[in-house]
Amino acid sequence: MIERLVVEDPAGLAAERLVEAAARGGHVALAGGSTPRAAYEHAARGGVDWSGATLWFGDERCVGPDHEHSNYAMVKRALLDQVGVGPDVKRIEGERGPNEAASAYEQELRAVFGERVPRLDLVLLGLGPDAHTASLFGGDAALGERERLAVGVQTPGMAPLVSRVTLTLPVVNAAREVVFLIAGEDKAQAVARAFDRPPDPSAPASLVRPVSGALTLLLDPAAAEGLECSS
Ligand code: 6PG
Repeated sequence: MIERLVVEDPAGLAAERLVEAAARGGHVALAGGSTPRAAYEHAARGGVDWSGATLWFGDERCVGPDHEHSNYAMVKRALLDQVGVGPDVKRIEGERGPNEAASAYEQELRAVFGERVPRLDLVLLGLGPDAHTASLFGGDAALGERERLAVGVQTPGMAPLVSRVTLTLPVVNAAREVVFLIAGEDKAQAVARAFDRPPDPSAPASLVRPVSGALTLLLDPAAAEGLECSS
């Protein structure tokens, strides 16, 4: 069952989910891109203790940690620099290149979760206009990966056209809770492809269906326009 919440300020709801997970000392994977920035800024004002939480990343661009395209840099500005004693941050070292960075990130995951598939408490995801999520793009081998926890993506399907590192579907779908934060009319068609039709590898987000976790869509009305029956 997919919970769909259509509100004017979905970033505010996403911030609430982040703050709840942080207050519980959870393992949280953050989304990159631009949409979640407002959620991180809102969460930073939540007044909770982040010191028990562990922050992971759903994906990262293969650039340095202070590069304009770095998801870590965006999270650092919007959240990490704003909260007092911060969480334990597991940064993807994208500057090492896709394959080396993916292997290092996978080792970090295994160091914490052992050999079982990590069960993150919350995975926050965005959605591209092409229905990609994290750095899982249609037609890319990363989407079919079922053994590795994280892999490199040499040629992403959308800008910024830098190689990437991404969590794989087994990790995303093992999460206790997956929340998509989606806003803007340019996402409406992708929302319909991802959540109103049967799973289709050409729409990677349609393959995100947590095995035993909750799936929530936080949408603004424009992004929800394409849904048959948005609540
Ligand atoms: C990334 C993100 C990516 C993003 C979507 C939506 O690293 O770019 O992880 O999956 O969530 O592309 O991006 P916007 O929120 O900027 O539209």
